[in-house]
Amino acid sequence: MDGPVLVTGANGFVGRRVVHALVEAGSPVRAMVRRPGAFAAADSSVEIVTGDLTDAASLRRACDGAAAVVSAAAVTGDRKPPKGGYDRVNADGIAALAAAATAAGVDRMVHFGGIDRAEDRPGRYLVGRRRGEDAIRKAGVPWTILQPSVQFGPGSEFVRVMADLVRLPVVPVPGDGSVRIQLVHVDDVARCVLACLEGSARLGRTVEIGGPEMIPYDHVLDVIGAARGKRRVRKLHVPSGLVALQARALQVLPKPPVTPAALELLAEDNVALSLDVVEREFGFRPRSFREHVAAHGLELG
Ligand SMILES: NC(=O)c1ccc[n+]([C@@H]2O[C@H](COP(=O)([O-])OP(=O)(O)OC[C@H]3O[C@@H](n4cnc5c(N)ncnc54)[C@H](OP(=O)(O)O)[C@@H]3O)[C@@H](O)[C@H]2O)c1
Repeated sequence: MDGPVLVTGANGFVGRRVVHALVEAGSPVRAMVRRPGAFAAADSSVEIVTGDLTDAASLRRACDGAAAVVSAAAVTGDRKPPKGGYDRVNADGIAALAAAATAAGVDRMVHFGGIDRAEDRPGRYLVGRRRGEDAIRKAGVPWTILQPSVQFGPGSEFVRVMADLVRLPVVPVPGDGSVRIQLVHVDDVARCVLACLEGSARLGRTVEIGGPEMIPYDHVLDVIGAARGKRRVRKLHVPSGLVALQARALQVLPKPPVTPAALELLAEDNVALSLDVVEREFGFRPRSFREHVAAHGLELG
């Protein structure tokens, strides 16, 4: 490839590990961040550019001369919506990035979505994300969309929140705790990204990925509790409708413990189509959440 790989969201949980993997692989990297002062580059060779998904001119500058774009910037559902709502970033911002990548003539764009089984109702978090993905498919840039299940690994916000929860004498669980998650390690996901940047096998495809286990939410809490030294995690299953009402009320807080969008993401199984999807698609076996946590702890950082 001629030119650097632009990584947006380079200061995020996933973006940081993608930058690290690219540097390890010897690829030139251009890291796009909103606040350069807050970013510690994985290596001095990393070029840092300032950009914001809500500022189209900054995206054109960031894409100029890049060989490829890895799109890992988004407002995730566990955060409150920013000014203008989630869609201003996750739909309109991603569309602007795809337009900038197309205009710059980059070789390809690898975009991070998530597993999405949501009903097509306007206003839902996932439906906005879908609009961003559709814009990429139509922009003209060669694309691959990766849709991972929930990721674990160094700095995972999901694991941190669960690790805080299991300290409570009783952990509130939305619904009956049977929703399954196919946790996948962030470094295995970064390895998939690198594979998507090579060859043409995954161009024009949307690829769901997940780890080698589909684990019910209740059991994820048990695994995290065990890593925290708890023999038993007591749970209180709360009807999802009631939790949703509470989540809406808590949005007045500056950093609410739960958001309606996060509940939407965990309302249904968050699993890929099969257990061996990474092995079949990328030719390696991703880490098991249970085994990895037992061997390496929670990697809370
Ligand atoms: N984490 C998971 O389990 C998981 C699972 C499936 C899919 N994904 C997807 O993977 C992507 C990365 O997730 P993540 O966990 O790394 O999230 P994250 O840690 O919150 O990182 C998101 C990054 O996006 C940046 N960002 C937010 N708004 C922006 C804007 N307007 N312009 C430019 N950058 C902006 C943030 O910048 P600041 O650092 O300045 O805030 C942050 O660095 C997301 O699309 C997410 O939905 C994540």
